[in-house]
Amino acid sequence: SAERPLVGRHVIVTSGPTREPIDPARFLSNRSSGKQGHAIAAAAARAGAQVTLVSGPVEIADPPGVTVRHVETALEMLAAVEAALPADIFIGAAAVADWRIEPAPDKIKKQPGGAPPTLVLRENPDILALVARRESERPALVVGFAAETRDVIANAQEKLARKGCDLIVANDVSAASGVFGGDANEVRLVGADGVESWPRLDKSEVAARLVARLAERLGATAEPV
Ligand code: C5P
Repeated sequence: SAERPLVGRHVIVTSGPTREPIDPARFLSNRSSGKQGHAIAAAAARAGAQVTLVSGPVEIADPPGVTVRHVETALEMLAAVEAALPADIFIGAAAVADWRIEPAPDKIKKQPGGAPPTLVLRENPDILALVARRESERPALVVGFAAETRDVIANAQEKLARKGCDLIVANDVSAASGVFGGDANEVRLVGADGVESWPRLDKSEVAARLVARLAERLGATAEPV
């Protein structure tokens, strides 16, 4: 129906940071709050979709009407996404850590007067690119985010091509923007067919508009999975 355009569709959303252990007590992570990704999952559910939200550790509640898979690391997030496929739409809103560490089995001891440990970083898989480039079960629409501090559109266009997704939601996360952890977001939708700039909106409003746009793009053409 007009108000519930995603009835019969499965939507997978990733949200929040990932947490990469250093040892049993410590980790590397980032400042993602999960607010935008969780709002998108909630909006997709309101639009009638069956929604799987794969969330890293966040302080906000599970959205109503959504199946939530709680994960910590990027590798766990990838496994949860793959287990949730097939889907009609994949939205990668998580701030996946670019690197992980081979975790030490025991807490690393600070040696008095000793040299600090060296952390050896390994690249994490790019979940968005892996979903977008799948030969089987590639969702009809694959959407990524680009959090940039400069050259927002150029970087988003490069990301769109490099990762093989259909749409990039690009935003300015420079300290002055107040986007990280805040309730508002100012985004541009960057697709192969052009750029659409939205005004500064509440993250819930960005989510509702994005879901409406994706429902339009999906249209009646693509068969539900
Ligand atoms: O390359 P960058 O991290 O800026 O790309 C951001 C987009 O890629 C987001 O949609 C994010 O969820 C996704 N991503 C991912 N797996 C990674 C890194 C980024 O899914 N390892």
